[in-house]
Amino acid sequence: MRVIITPTETEASTLAARHIIDHATPGMKLGVATGSTPLGLYANLRTAHETGAFSLADSTAWALDEYVGIDENHPERYRNVLRDQLVGDDKTGLTDDNLHTPNPYGDDLDAAAAEYEAALSEGVDIQILGLGSDGHIGFNEPAGSLASPTHVETLTHETREANSRFFDNDIDKVPTHCITQGLATIMRASDIVLLAFGRGKARAVAQLIEGPVSAMWPATILQHHPSVMIIVDEEAASELTMIDYYRSREHV
Ligand code: F6R
Repeated sequence: MRVIITPTETEASTLAARHIIDHATPGMKLGVATGSTPLGLYANLRTAHETGAFSLADSTAWALDEYVGIDENHPERYRNVLRDQLVGDDKTGLTDDNLHTPNPYGDDLDAAAAEYEAALSEGVDIQILGLGSDGHIGFNEPAGSLASPTHVETLTHETREANSRFFDNDIDKVPTHCITQGLATIMRASDIVLLAFGRGKARAVAQLIEGPVSAMWPATILQHHPSVMIIVDEEAASELTMIDYYRSREHV
């Protein structure tokens, strides 16, 4: 597990984008997160596309999760968020057909989750992750299975409260459920880049890197993955015990 601490979110986003651009292969499968954290990274990818240095034209992108019960045209529907960030020649070259998101609109949500899981049976090439303050990745909330496949999840109060900023600061407008890639699904990615910013993520970051692997902090499962790069700003790194060691490791 590489741990990179940058002064601010801006450097972290640039580094993460650099990693993706450098490791992009024609036809790659890119796992994409939503929320605020990857927005700077996506802006860097759009800039690289503009200059001809990067393209998702032949690639597919796979969302981590999607809300259940959200209007198809709602701007916070994750498919719409990702369209806004990545789809089209003016963005990264990704086509709408090549953007994959779980489908929460049918009668059988479990079947939709199973279908998404089957499509990801070989895992993505590079997975971008954010981190919930309660330690979730995707929307795998605490006390779930560390080996879960894509499934329907109930969001915790903490997550709905955190995400109410996207819903007029009204927690009642935040969906209660989602379909999310499971921890087993995420673990099939060949390579993972996780970003976390701000004081509110510090406890989860410390658990992720230094805590025992536990269903109470779902992101800790990443300690079992052979290729994870964690890029955090100073505030998110503030509860790490071995912070000097991580800095020294990155300065060889
Ligand atoms: C979003 C997702 C979540 C977010 C996490 C952090 O697709 O899967 O795990 O990455 O909730 O959200 P932000 O980045 O808004 O703090």
